[in-house]
Amino acid sequence: MKKTRIALQSKGRLKERSVEFLRSKGLKFPENGEGLLTSCSNADIEILWLRDDDIPEYVRCGAADFGIVGENVLQEQKSGLRIIRKLGFSKCRLVIAVPKNSRILELADLEGERIATSYPSLLCDFLQSRNIHATMIPLSGSVEIAPEMSLSDAICDLVQSGNTLKIHNLRELKTIFESEAVLIGNSEKNLNFDTVARGRATRGK
Ligand code: PRP
Ligand code: ZN
Repeated sequence: MKKTRIALQSKGRLKERSVEFLRSKGLKFPENGEGLLTSCSNADIEILWLRDDDIPEYVRCGAADFGIVGENVLQEQKSGLRIIRKLGFSKCRLVIAVPKNSRILELADLEGERIATSYPSLLCDFLQSRNIHATMIPLSGSVEIAPEMSLSDAICDLVQSGNTLKIHNLRELKTIFESEAVLIGNSEKNLNFDTVARGRATRGK
């Protein structure tokens, strides 16, 4: 029988809590030091270790049956995947922020300005809904440094503790999306996660 496969982030902020969540369901498995596909020792389940951005695609096409990913990634990719449940950890917000001394004081002031972001799709939807026209500067990370480097006038990025904004003298203008970790599943297979985790975590210890 084909093993059930669960995709987790291989490194980063989601990883530790994702591992904890699966272990709380009784699954025993080594971490990804031992390769990018590890087997549970007490269940017919494999853990696939991926970049978080790639998790929705693996689940969509059925290479993984389940995945744990930030809701921000799902929405940005407009993957339309089935969210089985919100997991209550890795909470963060997608925020538009500007330098403390910026003359941008409200959303309307963003008209015609440059906004650096790793979330162009979510930002674009938000700006459109407010009828604001701005230039998107797409970056894959370290977004908070862009205004200091004169690359942009504002940023749109994730905020968890708020430390990165603080260090770079940025002030929040608006939260545009609230996110947390979610469990997703392939919609064609439509497996029940709890049944899979419970039913299979029975092989020895
Ligand atoms: C994330 C995010 C923010 C920061 C927010 O970046 O993009 O920059 O964490 O966290 P904080 O509010 O607790 O400071 P990450 O460290 O994942 O690196 P990246 O910018 O390269 O994506
Ligand atoms: Zn960042």
